[in-house]
Amino acid sequence: MLHFNRPAVLSIVLALASQGVCAEIINLATPSSSLVLDATEGEALKILYYGSPLTQGDLDNLQQSPDLHHNAYPVYGINPQAEAALSVTHADGNRTTDVEVTGVSRSQSDGAETTTVSTRDKVYPLYVDICYRVRPGYDVIETWAEIRNMEKGPVTLNRFMSGYLPIRYGNVWMSSLYGSWANETQLTEEPLPHGVRMIKNKDGLRNSHTAHAEVMFSLDGKPMENSGRVIGAALCYPGNYKLFVDTDDTDFHHFFAGINEENSEYHLKKGETFTTPELALTYSAEGLSGASRNFHRWGRDNRLHAGDKERKILLNSWEGVYFDINEEGMYGMMEDIAGMGGELFVMDDGWFGVKYPRDVDNSSLGDWTVDTRKLPNGIDGLLAAARRNGISFGIWIEPEMTNTVSELYEKHPEYIIKAAGRPVVKGRGGTQLVLDMANPKVQDLVFEVVDTLMTKYPDIDYIKWDANAPIMEHGSQYLTADNQSHMYIDYHKGFVKTLDRIRAAHPDVTIQACASGGGRANWGVLPWFDEFWTSDNNDALQRIYMQWGTSYFFPAIAMASHISAAPNHQTFRRIPAKFRADVAMSGRLGLEMQPRDMNDEDRAVCARAITDYKQIRPIVQLGDLYRLQSPFDKKGVASLMYVTPEKDDAVFFWWKTETFMNQQLPRIPMAGLDADKRYRVTELNRIDNEPLPCEGKVYSGSYLMANGLEMPLTHKVDYHKNSDYSSRVLRLTEMTND
Ligand code: DGJ
Repeated sequence: MLHFNRPAVLSIVLALASQGVCAEIINLATPSSSLVLDATEGEALKILYYGSPLTQGDLDNLQQSPDLHHNAYPVYGINPQAEAALSVTHADGNRTTDVEVTGVSRSQSDGAETTTVSTRDKVYPLYVDICYRVRPGYDVIETWAEIRNMEKGPVTLNRFMSGYLPIRYGNVWMSSLYGSWANETQLTEEPLPHGVRMIKNKDGLRNSHTAHAEVMFSLDGKPMENSGRVIGAALCYPGNYKLFVDTDDTDFHHFFAGINEENSEYHLKKGETFTTPELALTYSAEGLSGASRNFHRWGRDNRLHAGDKERKILLNSWEGVYFDINEEGMYGMMEDIAGMGGELFVMDDGWFGVKYPRDVDNSSLGDWTVDTRKLPNGIDGLLAAARRNGISFGIWIEPEMTNTVSELYEKHPEYIIKAAGRPVVKGRGGTQLVLDMANPKVQDLVFEVVDTLMTKYPDIDYIKWDANAPIMEHGSQYLTADNQSHMYIDYHKGFVKTLDRIRAAHPDVTIQACASGGGRANWGVLPWFDEFWTSDNNDALQRIYMQWGTSYFFPAIAMASHISAAPNHQTFRRIPAKFRADVAMSGRLGLEMQPRDMNDEDRAVCARAITDYKQIRPIVQLGDLYRLQSPFDKKGVASLMYVTPEKDDAVFFWWKTETFMNQQLPRIPMAGLDADKRYRVTELNRIDNEPLPCEGKVYSGSYLMANGLEMPLTHKVDYHKNSDYSSRVLRLTEMTND
């Protein structure tokens, strides 16, 4: 059998001498997938296949099955009843586009190979390059389009998707995420309906509270975690998006993904090129978890900022003190987190504003000067306290925003997003406004917020970058009247440009993407951010669901997950510290509370969780995820595990999601281990008076994967410690010599 692992791209050039044209079959091969294109000069680029790797014979025969041939990047106008990835109004008003392949080129960068299929309209000088990037060793293919206008005048892009994929009709199910503030990343699994199923965002700024720009397609019926063929797609864009599947009367589901073009038609000047965001595609024959692992590995190694660097265990001040920032309080929190073994303290909102102090949420954004009433020794004092405690220090900012009550707005009312001739629309606190990132002066300002902080205080280790408003009106004071439709796209172009400058100047500071909780969990921002805030809801039970959904597309290293107080500040549920810690430990562990409000028992549980997490941190943050039992299946239990790539160390999480007397729970077979290896079991974060029967015992990988281990329904603890919650964290370490 022929595998196309190296080189990544094999192509067969067939010279059709009689016609004088070149037909090039391009096989974009990754270790476990192939995407095959037919780039015949003079014809539209065709996609022949996306799935498991092909033999040479299979590849040859694919070319002879015209039923499988779809245009790889369908354009609008000829056959206008079909959905298209690109729709253009030409300089002369013609709304039809019809492109043909003119050539194929390849380029290498950072070990990745990009194959560019150049096409051009048969009549107009409009050029569309369709690009595919393959990174050796990764099962993800990134695709995007570059549209270049060489016509006499501007052309209007009415639709400009990143990519298209035909999926053979059958028992195909789509898994996608929906939600809301404090209830992000809930999972929907549904068979693809006839007609159009659309997922979209129009917030302008934050794009992952509600729907998400990522989906998975299970090709073999109802989605399974560890078996079945799955295609995953993730749009790498921080702004408005549209993903849709059109199941028409053909034998295919037609999947499109890209920037949401509504209100955003783009005028492309003569000589200008529009580059769409990348769409990352993956194929796995190992179920949903397999597709997630593909995204995680690819993302950690190629897209997530500092994706190979373990993250620190932190305490964030927000739910502990909210706006009540003062020096003594901050020093106390630093002592407390250091005393529990934590490594970083982050001061949240409320530390700034001189003329207008930020005491509540209705003022001061933009006035990034320390309020010395609250912090007489300023940031230097805080950094010194962090040093004394042997920890690092981080700080909250919200640089894309201002308030009507701020010195910034008094000086620069022209910097905000605002529709001409109307009163400004205000957000949070009745005063919040969004700065117009399309404006280069605003880009400079936002760069300077970070640059000034980092230049004055180079020891700042972490920035929590928040964004607590959508774009509330369609109006840029910077863009000309005829280019108002560019506002949403130019906002993000400006945002990304600014992030590039920030990272060039400050590559080492850890930056969290927060946006009213989980509003910025997307692959569009992660090249510049080290992690995202998953949700403003830290209730451990609800987090099991939210983190489950998040893990479909994002690795644990990027998923901030904090132990918060009981009762919880959002749901008011009282969950024991052990359960709260066991859930938080399955992501990037932190704390979100006032440690001084904890009793000694809870404090000891948290300190123990921190110590234990340090042991498993590389497995959780850099290992491979195997989801085992979904909370969405409502079986009363949820479970997942992380395994090192060498399969010599693993950590198993088990959380009971509901409690009834004499309830029957399934035993959970493990996954991802080496069947031939033997593993010793150690319970972490243990609160029971007696060890589990499996404690210290050695089991083969094959036994654990066939049977799993029995988990008691309750903890064996002193009577007053009994509760309706139960959870376990087990470490499985390979035994080598007995
Ligand atoms: C929203 C964030 O999600 C919270 O964590 C907190 O930082 C507040 N903003 C502060 O205003």
